Amino acid sequence: MSNEKFANIVVAIDGSDLSKRAADYAISLAKEQNAKVSAVAVVKFHQTDAFRGSTATLEKFVRKQAEIAQRWLDSARNKAEKENVRFESRVIKTRTNIPEEIIKYAMDKRSDLIIMGTRGRTGFKKVLLGSVASAVVTHAGCPVMVIR
Ligand SMILES: Nc1ncnc2c1ncn2[C@@H]1O[C@H](COP(=O)(O)OP(=O)(O)OP(=O)(O)O)[C@@H](O)[C@H]1O
Ligand SMILES: [Mg+2]
Repeated sequence: MSNEKFANIVVAIDGSDLSKRAADYAISLAKEQNAKVSAVAVVKFHQTDAFRGSTATLEKFVRKQAEIAQRWLDSARNKAEKENVRFESRVIKTRTNIPEEIIKYAMDKRSDLIIMGTRGRTGFKKVLLGSVASAVVTHAGCPVMVIR
């Protein structure tokens, strides 16, 4: 293990406290390993989401959500910069599948580790492992660390 190094760490951020903790983990591990952190937030939307046909309204909604997601990523960037950790981030908009987008992003970044929370902001407190975390653990092509 001592020779193994993480070079590219991906962290998935949904604005939940646990995902912020995941970002803190990612940054401190990256500092130790001299790795880069790539942070991703996926904004999912449906045409049917309340907007009943108004494309302009939907676009406005999605833009707003993406701005909020960008703020979560910016706050992670601030922490990374304080620690002198290389950092990049992306907001991804999708109509389909959040875990799939996280996994694609991780592959794109040649990630050797994905860090995320066990739960996020949309689930029930009772559930031990959220559906996004569960799908990423199941399907990712690299190790996944889930933070509790
Ligand atoms: N849209 C997203 N973009 C980026 N990361 C996400 C997103 N959704 C979840 N995550 C990551 O997955 C972790 C677990 O969240 P998950 O969504 O699986 O649980 P949940 O919200 O409690 O339940 P649910 O299955 O209802 O969504 C979060 O802490 C975060 O790291
Ligand atoms: Mg969720």
